[in-house]
Amino acid sequence: MNHLGGSAMRILVTGGLGFIGSHLVRRLLREPEVLVTNLDVLTYAGNLANVADVAGSDRYVWEQSSITDEVAVDRILRETQYDAIINLAAESHVDRSISDGLPFVKTNVVGTQVLLEAARRHQVGRFVQVSTDEVYGSLGEHGYFTELSPLQPNSPYSASKASADLLVLAAYRTYGQNVVVTRCSNNYGPYQFPEKLIPLYITNGIEGKPWPLYGDGLNVRDWLHVEDHVDALWLALSRGQAGEIYNIGGHNERTNRQVALTLLDIMGLSPDIVVSVPDRPGHDRRYAIDPSKAMRELGFFPRHDWTEGMRETVRWYETHPKWWQTIKSGEYLQFYQRQYGRLGDAPHES
Ligand code: NAD
Ligand code: DAU
Repeated sequence: MNHLGGSAMRILVTGGLGFIGSHLVRRLLREPEVLVTNLDVLTYAGNLANVADVAGSDRYVWEQSSITDEVAVDRILRETQYDAIINLAAESHVDRSISDGLPFVKTNVVGTQVLLEAARRHQVGRFVQVSTDEVYGSLGEHGYFTELSPLQPNSPYSASKASADLLVLAAYRTYGQNVVVTRCSNNYGPYQFPEKLIPLYITNGIEGKPWPLYGDGLNVRDWLHVEDHVDALWLALSRGQAGEIYNIGGHNERTNRQVALTLLDIMGLSPDIVVSVPDRPGHDRRYAIDPSKAMRELGFFPRHDWTEGMRETVRWYETHPKWWQTIKSGEYLQFYQRQYGRLGDAPHES
């Protein structure tokens, strides 16, 4: 990678106020010579509290803009010569995409193309697209997703992420743009927005509220600690080959019922809290990642143990009640609505 002036490396992270993005910002700032610009428009899922511990660093700056805003993105890339963009900005919740798909297409597809074109115009050294195992669709009882598995997305969310991947890979083939695509499995850990399964269950458990379990609860997800994911993103940025896709996961498949049992055990709760609810439409049955390429070629190896990682995650939510209570009480939502209008409506330019 090009380290500017032989010293500082300038990285533009998008979506750095969200769950994974905020861990990535923290991870990048651990590298002594990295400067981070965080391009995040601050939708309902972004939160300034997620980066409060690093926001004062003189190697960090936040740019509040949408990745769909061509003018703003062009200005940001003109003002600073970046060595890399790591694109995490996205609408990320499957259930929301089922009720309102348009914001997913705007941010995940159009926003990615806006960034790609600006990166090309301003000769950004590398473009890392942070994608998801959901682009491969659903597996049967056996087998794994490899980088050669066909794209078979089943939700508006995963279809928008697959579309973005295709645009990124097309930029490599057409223009020789230096791109890398990563596809990770389900993440868990601190700062995850409490609409997602694990933080929803933990915070509902603390509040004495039920745990909604979709369908028969036997859908399988392949869980990875968020710090392992962001380690892999650093490796993909610094060691990945241009034009390549890297699957990221830790061989940690669990049914949703098993996840619930792990949490019941850690939190000392009665199974009565689990309530069966109607299934998610088009609910993918099983995800399972074959991460051998990332292990072999990037030197990726997950370091978090599942049970210990889940214990630490529960402890984090127990010791940071203000973080999630502000979100769940609606206080944070009111702030969001004051800033941007209706929920889910990022300030896309007309
Ligand atoms: P998140 O919803 O927690 O955060 C998304 C962030 O993007 C927020 O800070 C939001 O303000 C910002 N954002 C949204 N629209 C924007 C726009 N138009 N312009 C600028 N910023 C915008 O998401 P997450 O769970 O941290 O996921 C981050 C990325 O990783 C996504 O691209 C997602 O597809 C991918 N991913 C997530 C998982 C997972 O388990 N959560 C797994 C694999 C891949
Ligand atoms: O696989 C990676 C993907 O993981 C990411 O690309 C997405 O951004 C991320 O949101 C996540 O998608 P999932 O749909 O797998 O995550 P979610 O936490 O919404 O659901 C996990 C599983 O739990 C899924 O099988 C649906 C189920 N579920 C979820 C919720 C919110 C329930 O049974 N009850 C619930 O209340």
